[in-house]
Amino acid sequence: MVDSGKVFELSAIRRIYKVGSELVYALDGVDLSIHDREFIAVTGTSGSGKSTLMHTLGFMDSPTSGRMDFEGRDVSAIGRGERARLRATRIGFVFQAFNLLPKLTVLDNVVLPLIYGRMHVKDKNELGIQVLQRVGMEHRATHTPGQLSGGERQRVAIARSLINQPRLILADEPTGNLDSKNRGRIMELFASLMEEGITLALVTHDDEVAAYAKRRIRMQDGRIVEDSEK
Ligand SMILES: Nc1ncnc2c1ncn2[C@@H]1O[C@H](COP(=O)(O)OP(=O)(O)O)[C@@H](O)[C@H]1O
Ligand SMILES: [Mg+2]
Repeated sequence: MVDSGKVFELSAIRRIYKVGSELVYALDGVDLSIHDREFIAVTGTSGSGKSTLMHTLGFMDSPTSGRMDFEGRDVSAIGRGERARLRATRIGFVFQAFNLLPKLTVLDNVVLPLIYGRMHVKDKNELGIQVLQRVGMEHRATHTPGQLSGGERQRVAIARSLINQPRLILADEPTGNLDSKNRGRIMELFASLMEEGITLALVTHDDEVAAYAKRRIRMQDGRIVEDSEK
């Protein structure tokens, strides 16, 4: 397989929603390459297309037109089953609202994405403890999310996003529900995971959060209007 460290290549991607008789161009011609080990902050005003871009990269939504290559392969027209497989095994997600299941323990939440594989429970749990160690939460493995602070919940959600060793982690305003102290801690955690080799695209409204990223992309009206490295 030809794969020179390029994770995604998007060309002229459009996502058009039809609302009544009106067309909404949520993405309006996006060209974007993402390489291994990049740390990208996506900024832009509300409604500029940031979440739609994340959903597109995460195989949660399909472009209306344009070409999308993932790991050197054209994935513009793959079917639902293959999209679901890629979403479950190759991409990790972190959300603003954490999206942990309240009745499951921390460990059970973290190993949930392994449901698509054929691992034994014992191996799953071992892997779960390993990723909890990476985010400093192994001592809370048997707790439930309700017993944790917001910052701790987000650490657990990050552990869950790591469990399948995804090629890319997508985070949509992951610090949006956190106070400034926890915001800093979560960003330090992402920075340390970057050093371990993860690739991350993160949406944020917060300049201090964006400052952690080496590359910044700004969106406006469904287009990338700025793409800069520091
Ligand atoms: N499911 C949908 N149906 C119709 N319009 C949508 C839908 N999702 C998003 N949009 C519209 O697409 C545009 C981009 O939305 P979004 O990607 O959520 O922006 P952001 O995350 O930057 O706030 C907005 O105008 C929004 O109203
Ligand atoms: Mg959004």
